[in-house]
Amino acid sequence: MKESCVSFTTLGDYISSFYNENKQFLEANYPGISLGRLKLELKNFCRILDSQFDDIYISENKGVIEEFLKKVKLGIPLEYISNRSFFYRSSFYINENVLIPRSETEIMVEWTAEYIRKNRLDHIKIADIGTGSGAIALSLAGEIGEIDAEIIASDISEKALDVARANKFFHRYRYPKTVKLKFQQSDRMENIPGDLDIIITNPPYIKENADLSEVHGQVHSFEPHLALYLKDQDYDNWFKTFFDQAQKKLKNGGLFIMEGSELHLERLKDILGEYNFGELELIKDYTDRYRFLKGRKNG
Ligand SMILES: C[S@@+](CC[C@H](N)C(=O)[O-])C[C@H]1O[C@@H](n2cnc3c(N)ncnc32)[C@H](O)[C@@H]1O
Repeated sequence: MKESCVSFTTLGDYISSFYNENKQFLEANYPGISLGRLKLELKNFCRILDSQFDDIYISENKGVIEEFLKKVKLGIPLEYISNRSFFYRSSFYINENVLIPRSETEIMVEWTAEYIRKNRLDHIKIADIGTGSGAIALSLAGEIGEIDAEIIASDISEKALDVARANKFFHRYRYPKTVKLKFQQSDRMENIPGDLDIIITNPPYIKENADLSEVHGQVHSFEPHLALYLKDQDYDNWFKTFFDQAQKKLKNGGLFIMEGSELHLERLKDILGEYNFGELELIKDYTDRYRFLKGRKNG
């Protein structure tokens, strides 16, 4: 990481120069990074208005700018630096206790909202297992319209649930009053009440040894391992327990939909079929890879 010896007076010039001098480091550690994105995150971090950005004098904000750039030089994901991540139609508070929500997960939210609309479901009970920041539960809450719905957002981690609770507060005007959001700490579905219509989940699904080479260094270094990894030798059994709980907690005909790894979803589909689920299907993401598994509990 290079240090600039030129002294700049305005933030716009300074950040452009920082970006150009450290382009290689930034591109290696921040896939898809652009100058605009770096400016946006710095602006959020320093709480600077858009119109002021290029003209602002560095001397007025030196401490906070240096704090930001110090974190960038460590390769910390921008979302953890600014405590903010965009998902679906809105912004979520995040910290190091939760996964940074990924855009491909939006497909599962879209798919499930469409399923609810198409089947004209009302009076429904949904569980989001491994809710993390609450991005799935809250986005779904804002997407399903004024139907009578209860959404249980659950996680094994109390620290993650605190983040989801904060997002419930920030999003309180974004979903109708007919939708009730509750939180429940649970290992998979152990503490989740039954009679569910839908289970939606983005669980940890990377094998901690066999799949490690597929994981970007920045993800491994900074995102919570509890959110990412399962032990290789426990992998199938972890899902067998989950699927068994799921079939016991779902109503007949209820939907189970999960995100997973394209390396393992085909096998998990067969396993799900052993737990009283039919209409099994793998769904692709926008890059044409099979990333989601859905099934319905046999009636
Ligand atoms: C891949 S992250 C998904 C987070 C969020 N739903 C999202 O899509 O951005 C997996 C989440 O599952 C939680 N988790 C890990 N093991 C769990 C378990 N045994 N039971 C319930 N949740 C678990 C983690 O704490 C983490 O929040």
